[in-house]
Amino acid sequence: MKGLKTVLLLAGLSSSLLNAAPHQVSIEIQASQSGPVIHKDIYGQFAEHLGRGIYEGVWVGEDSPIPNTKGFRNDVVEALKAIQVPLVRWPGGCFADEYHWREGIGPRHMRPVKVNTHWGGVEETNAFGTHEFFEFVELIGADAYVNGNLGSGSVQEMAEWMEYMTSDKNSTLANERRKNGREAPFDIAYFGIGNESWGCGGHMRPEYYADLYRQYATFLKTPPGKRPKLVASGGHTEDTQWTEVLSANIQQDMDGISYHFYTLPTSDWQKKGKALGFDQSMWLATMERTYRMDKYIRDNLAVLDKNDPEGKLGFYVDEWGTWYDPQPGREPGFLYQQNSLRDAVVTAVNFNIFHQHAKRVRMTNIAQMVNVLQAMILTDKEKMVLTPTYHVYGMYKVFQDATSVPFKLQTGLYGNSDKSVPAVTASVAKGTDGKLYLALVNLDPSESATIKLKLSGASASQAVGQILTADKMDAHNSFTQPEVVKPQAFSSKLSNLSLPAKSVVVAELR
Ligand code: AHR
Repeated sequence: MKGLKTVLLLAGLSSSLLNAAPHQVSIEIQASQSGPVIHKDIYGQFAEHLGRGIYEGVWVGEDSPIPNTKGFRNDVVEALKAIQVPLVRWPGGCFADEYHWREGIGPRHMRPVKVNTHWGGVEETNAFGTHEFFEFVELIGADAYVNGNLGSGSVQEMAEWMEYMTSDKNSTLANERRKNGREAPFDIAYFGIGNESWGCGGHMRPEYYADLYRQYATFLKTPPGKRPKLVASGGHTEDTQWTEVLSANIQQDMDGISYHFYTLPTSDWQKKGKALGFDQSMWLATMERTYRMDKYIRDNLAVLDKNDPEGKLGFYVDEWGTWYDPQPGREPGFLYQQNSLRDAVVTAVNFNIFHQHAKRVRMTNIAQMVNVLQAMILTDKEKMVLTPTYHVYGMYKVFQDATSVPFKLQTGLYGNSDKSVPAVTASVAKGTDGKLYLALVNLDPSESATIKLKLSGASASQAVGQILTADKMDAHNSFTQPEVVKPQAFSSKLSNLSLPAKSVVVAELR
């Protein structure tokens, strides 16, 4: 499919019709200049009590025959360490607004068994609670993002959880934490006050939520230096009203506003589209939907720039990723789906968008980490497989805390008269190791792209790194064939740079 006779002007990116295949793309990099830092937390993950995300995926219990460290499966822990997961959000999601933290502390055999009413009506043993969460993030070297219960909890319950987790005093709650095995207070990087309060979190109006937020936040007390960033539950998809109302009405105790956007190939929640076995029109529809992230972020940031011109507030995309129809034969409420090369391309497209908006988009969490939606990792009893999405996280880790470098990208469009997206998107940044990195993604599943690169302010003649691609659009890794899609070495002269169809490249310019 070829591009449109249109000229699309986006900040730093212009796109026009180029009839000849392959796509002719040019990139001009100004390496002596620098833009905002790409916060490492853009690479955050989301782990909800949903399906086999926590139980089986992360936690198998100390008595499991699956090799584990204090109940956490070793293979998953090692895999997550390898991609340097910076942040994990827990316990939900919709689950967060039904979660009562007291049920997840103390001796495990005494914890109440509840019903997970949101996700499949299964038994929730509460075996994985506050202490297990912090032990897990400490094991993988990540920071903690705890999401509090505003929907069905109380101000007192949330305030006491905060005290339990962070107090260094001789208070009854802090001593209870010590009795449960943790002397030092836990470190919380972010704390969310409710989740999707427009929907599963209580079907509220933003005005009502803003008042509740102010009330709840007032009573979240922490010792000096222990205060997490406080996150207000914001809007989703094309909505900007939540950002508008929250940023206009909450003057203190708010560090950022959350935002959720899922990539459904069809954009229809009743029939989202298949994870595998899709055709080119579904590939294009997926790319078109996922690329809307750019516009939706821009629209919300315009609101923030008006209401918060000093740029204090972050815009946290704390749920994003692909969402397909449930896999046949699986419990639909578990949101288990396979993950293909298409998901890898979606991941890179979104990273490149987040990097463009790094000034405000300082944290995101892909949904979700293991066995749920666009997962990094799939497990089946003792087996584990790494998805194409996982590999993109691994390739892009050089961008964590890197300083973005401005560039101009000219690309043709990929699409048809109905739907189109830029054929190629990119990121350029100086890593914390001082090296200059370029990421490129070719969204077109059938045409390659030739890249004309002009570099000023630095000298380099080669791009050396990794490429992720495959022959089939739905190429994926399974328990029987776990290495169908995996990064390969990439090396090219800059004078001769090209990108295969449907590929992701991350390379050092040297
Ligand atoms: O990630 C699955 C669900 O999607 C989350 O629980 C909810 O916040 C969103 O609607």
